[in-house]
Amino acid sequence: MSRDRKRSRMSSSMPQYTFPLVRRHERVAVDEQVRKCVILLSEKREGLAQEFELDLPSMSINSDPDLLQQIWLNLIDNAMKYSGSESIIHISGQSDLQGITVTVQDEGIGIPAEKQGQIFDAFYQCEESHKKDGNGLGLSIVKRILELLNGSIECHSIEGSGTRMTVNIQK
Ligand SMILES: Nc1ncnc2c1ncn2[C@@H]1O[C@H](COP(=O)(O)OP(=O)(O)OP(=O)(O)O)[C@@H](O)[C@H]1O
Ligand SMILES: [Mg+2]
Repeated sequence: MSRDRKRSRMSSSMPQYTFPLVRRHERVAVDEQVRKCVILLSEKREGLAQEFELDLPSMSINSDPDLLQQIWLNLIDNAMKYSGSESIIHISGQSDLQGITVTVQDEGIGIPAEKQGQIFDAFYQCEESHKKDGNGLGLSIVKRILELLNGSIECHSIEGSGTRMTVNIQK
């Protein structure tokens, strides 16, 4: 049985697949990919005067580019959506022999401590008001992709002051 099929059977509550979920395994320039996501989402959410501060050294990893892109899109989308229109979003990256780390940090509304344990559950949204712009699926997809790519995500958030999401993917 292939590694992907084994992984797709990790939990009985997960759907079962008869095809590999990670289809591509190629060199991805992660810094370039993240910059493209910022441009894409800035166009989509035109009208917000948010500033991006990027500190992304050249870093690459062998992985599935489409799955990786979904991670950055979801995290940057959240940072923009849950922040004021004139705030700064900081995105930084680091690469070493073990893997890559990408951090997306906003100065937005933050996540109450008692809700932080649920944000990676499918369809969970911290507030009723968030339902008008989303389904509560973004972070559950990010978590699932990171399970498939041998990665992890950590959330550090302070209500009223901002959220930092840190993604680590092993090489
Ligand atoms: N950066 C953030 N700042 C504040 N709250 C956040 C942030 N990211 C996520 N959340 C909270 O976690 C919930 C779940 O996030 P998730 O991305 O899964 O769903 P969503 O953004 O509501 O919808 P979707 O991603 O499907 O468009 C959000 O509804 C929001 O309440
Ligand atoms: Mg989202």
